[in-house]
Amino acid sequence: MLQSDCDHATRATDQDYWGAVRALYVVAPDVVNLENGYWGVMAEPVRREFVRQTNMVNYENTYYVRQRSGADFESVRTKVAEAVGAAVEEIALTRGATEALQLLIGGYNRLKPGDAVLYADLDYDSTQYAMNALNARRGVEVVKFDVPEPATRQAVLDAYAHALEANPKTRVLLLTHVSNRTGLVMPVAEIVRMAKAKSIDIIVDAAHSWGQLDFKVNELGADFVGFNLHKWIGAPLGVGFLYIRKGRLADIDRYMGDEDFPETDIRSRVHTGTVNFATVLTVPAALALHEEIGAAAKQARLRYLRDHWVSRARAFKDIDILTPDEACLYGAITSFRLAGKTSKGDNDAIVAELRDSYKVFTVRRAGVAKGQCIRVTPALYTNEADLDRLVDALAVVTGTKVS
Ligand SMILES: Cc1ncc(COP(=O)(O)O)c(C=O)c1O
Repeated sequence: MLQSDCDHATRATDQDYWGAVRALYVVAPDVVNLENGYWGVMAEPVRREFVRQTNMVNYENTYYVRQRSGADFESVRTKVAEAVGAAVEEIALTRGATEALQLLIGGYNRLKPGDAVLYADLDYDSTQYAMNALNARRGVEVVKFDVPEPATRQAVLDAYAHALEANPKTRVLLLTHVSNRTGLVMPVAEIVRMAKAKSIDIIVDAAHSWGQLDFKVNELGADFVGFNLHKWIGAPLGVGFLYIRKGRLADIDRYMGDEDFPETDIRSRVHTGTVNFATVLTVPAALALHEEIGAAAKQARLRYLRDHWVSRARAFKDIDILTPDEACLYGAITSFRLAGKTSKGDNDAIVAELRDSYKVFTVRRAGVAKGQCIRVTPALYTNEADLDRLVDALAVVTGTKVS
């Protein structure tokens, strides 16, 4: 989330409007599902379009795919580019953010033995693995550091400044816009500026941010970014994209010697093979709904929902809320940790208690330097009553007396 977006006045609390949005989603009623960080279920109009496209592909068969899918995919790529504020030549579709980011990290060809690459504890597991693999692949030193907890905007900026200062051989920094572990929103534009001043390239993991937060790719300032369409844009599972800023394509290798596209075409950086055609063909419907609700309104509503539970739970006994209330440092996702409960077993037990005794579904997250935690992720179909059920459960679990 960028500073300018944080003041955007929207109708985040309009019950009628958000009730109508909630009604677009048909989800199992047996549990309050606050684990919407894994992916974003499709709203009904999108799901129906996906069924329609699936039927069409099955019916029209290879006759459609061989003759028309190429043009249709180009139209999807163009729509995605327009929506994220990029040129179509800067975008290539992938099966998700993991694929996009592995291609960017693995394909970045400006590393030489002795260089360093840098990432933090809050980055995503698969991207950490890809960064670690650069040691064997490119002969570079891989440096990991910890994002401060509790975080403040300044503490985060200082930690990145210090890490860059302490590792002068750094050539590439991996930076996750919204951490999947805690929900912390990184001040990406500032960190990118800081790194670029030292001629360091940044690969931004925007898997969780676009659609949850309101921004265009240029506002990040980064030259290499991996995105998802099946989280907060609400497309069917199995689609994302990568962005390479114009002029930087040569710095990412062609994928496994792709020969379908010329070296100058970004699509030569991805070679997926046969994909689920219906998934890609449904992306315009997901984008249309995203744009109809509006990115700013979505961001405001999701932050409001997060505030609804955090504002009460923060005062509970022995609970650490792992994203600060500082504007721009959080979106929908926020994790918590109960005092001293840092292990897998501790957190699995709390997740199980919330699920089995209170019918509230959350997820344990590992990898945070100070210990494991529990992530809470509302969605557009979540309402205040759902979050009150979480808060009431947390009051009991923490032994907090609420008046
Ligand atoms: C921060 C982050 N990066 C990358 C990914 C990978 O996304 P996908 O599994 O959809 O490819 C995720 C998925 O949860 C994520 O949270």
